Amino acid sequence: ISLRPFNTFGIDARARLYLRVASDAELQAALADPELARRPRLVLGGGSNVLLTGDFPGLVLHIASTGKEVLPGDTTHVHVRAAAGENWHAFVQWTLAQGLGGLENLALIPGTVGAAPIQNIGAYGLETKDVFHSLTAFDPGTGTTMTMDRAACRFGYRDSIFKQEAGRHLIITSVTFALPRVWQPNLRYAELANAVAEQGFDAPTARQIADTVIAVRRRKLPDPEVIGNAGSFFKNPVVSAGQCASLLERFPTLVHHRQPDGSEKLAAGWLIDQCGWKGRSLGAAGVYPRQALVLVNNGGATGADVQRLARAIQDDVEARYGVRLEPEPVFV
Ligand code: EPU
Repeated sequence: ISLRPFNTFGIDARARLYLRVASDAELQAALADPELARRPRLVLGGGSNVLLTGDFPGLVLHIASTGKEVLPGDTTHVHVRAAAGENWHAFVQWTLAQGLGGLENLALIPGTVGAAPIQNIGAYGLETKDVFHSLTAFDPGTGTTMTMDRAACRFGYRDSIFKQEAGRHLIITSVTFALPRVWQPNLRYAELANAVAEQGFDAPTARQIADTVIAVRRRKLPDPEVIGNAGSFFKNPVVSAGQCASLLERFPTLVHHRQPDGSEKLAAGWLIDQCGWKGRSLGAAGVYPRQALVLVNNGGATGADVQRLARAIQDDVEARYGVRLEPEPVFV
């Protein structure tokens, strides 16, 4: 079966077997089948954070479970739980429609609820971990479902236990978020604060912030329905304060943000842009003209095309700045 409809990059790789599971019971039944369980496995949600580098010889499990509910929570937070297969943006919109703020900065991120914790999705000054309460995950090895709290997920910048050896085998089945009963806007990200002010919102509601985030994203990021992509293709590299200082001597306009531990996060988009890659293509893979951090499929690109472009960019950035960019999507 072609996986083209199941990855936002629109890469036309093939899978030996494909199974769409619409509930936890279907997932467990599938993995209780020894014939299916022994196959190499690829779990897909929205397919918005993978680069398929070739055909997949095993079983693709497409998580399509649905359901969302508001739970009592505690004195300070309301809890909302959603099944892993729910579309992320639709879920954000639903929480806002319930009058619950907290997820608005993460509006319009492609993908599913179950995928959000895997790479701790983040944008405009908010990360999943900041609003996360707990999740349930199925362990195919033991056949059991467990609950994991924030500490157990080992969240980092675009990282969690689910991307690491210790947790790669786990399949997230539902996620619970803790949303504040007393909501306050999060306008720490300067570009969002400016865009909100430009709209004339001086006491913005969560709904207005969501709408602003949506407008900013539409302006800068390609719609995967139109141009294949997986969002930011590289992580913003974190360097030591010393390395940042010596780069600043040679490149005074270097974009950098100090981290709580004193290290400095550089803007990968700026580094790529400065190397002249913005808007350029290599075969059918290209660099998006409005955001150099996003690699796109100009039509018919293979995973190998995208990898070739990614390597050329990594090599140029490293030669000029001494920093090796690390890809954000998972390579399969
Ligand atoms: N920049 C350039 N040229 C470019 C792109 C960016 O000079 O072509 C500069 C900008 O001027 C700005 C800086 O780089 O000073 C940062 O750019 P931007 O605000 O667009 O954010 P980003 O660091 O490139 C990150 C996330 C995005 C997230 C935005 C907003 C990562 C890897 N990416 O991008 O997340 O939406 O911040 O918070 O952390 C994703 O992960 O897929 C993603 C889209």
